[in-house]
Amino acid sequence: MSASLREAVGSNPVWYHTIDLAADVTTPGHFDLRPIVDKLPWPAVRGKRCLDVGTYDGFLAFELERRGASEVVALDIPDHEDWDWPAEIRALGPEYLASVAGPEKGAGFRIAREALRSSVEKVDMTVYDLSRERLGTFDVVVCGSLLLHLRDPLRALEAIRSVCSGEFMSAEEIDLRLSVRHPRRAVARLDGTGERMQWWVPNVAAHKRMVFAAGFEILRSIRPYSEAFGVAHPAHRRQMRTMHLRLARTLLTADMGVPHAALLARPRV
Ligand SMILES: C[S@@+](CC[C@H](N)C(=O)[O-])C[C@H]1O[C@@H](n2cnc3c(N)ncnc32)[C@H](O)[C@@H]1O
Repeated sequence: MSASLREAVGSNPVWYHTIDLAADVTTPGHFDLRPIVDKLPWPAVRGKRCLDVGTYDGFLAFELERRGASEVVALDIPDHEDWDWPAEIRALGPEYLASVAGPEKGAGFRIAREALRSSVEKVDMTVYDLSRERLGTFDVVVCGSLLLHLRDPLRALEAIRSVCSGEFMSAEEIDLRLSVRHPRRAVARLDGTGERMQWWVPNVAAHKRMVFAAGFEILRSIRPYSEAFGVAHPAHRRQMRTMHLRLARTLLTADMGVPHAALLARPRV
């Protein structure tokens, strides 16, 4: 079993998530959410219909299932071409996009789902197309590290709001410097160029404001934390060398990785 599973894991050239698939098989992810997963502001999910938006290899969807959700839908775009690529990168063509993002979208999710004997249902759809007509409503919606990659994060949040009948947990990358400088003012850094496909990176206040503006009220939030690099991330090795940066980040977020904020909200309008 482990040998064939290891082979399947090895057949997928790009793993985003670090997932324990068996006692001795863990995916070599770019990011490792395992250290922070229990710190996130989860609502009660037992017996509930749940949606994970932008699932990638499915870490958060499998976590919803593990926590007792009665049904979990994992949504992601069907193709790397469907990312909101900046114009200069899209102009380089589909083959270039595939070389940046990895050859086959959803391969990791499929391997992980089978290994975990999971019942999570995968839906190929852009967040912008979420609607009650297409998928019904969900008691719980979660969405992690997606908004910064979208040209129109407010439109995405409104689409999420349209299918959320209970609670929404949002965990997003934030700009630490802007969060420290402007603790109460909602400000965001705009990029919109390059392969990292970062559009808007909000400070903590702007993350809350975006969710509020899309029709939610904020129930609670946790202090900023760091999403750790996994073994496949180039920064994983680099971070061992940059001690001063590591120390600064450690002081602010208690760990090394990408700074994030997470909150729990419910529909307000
Ligand atoms: C940075 S990963 C985050 C993965 C996971 N949600 C997490 O928190 O670790 C962003 C994911 O969102 C997906 N994505 C990008 N644009 C999307 C869109 N318009 N609609 C739905 N998913 C999208 C990507 O394909 C990718 O799987």
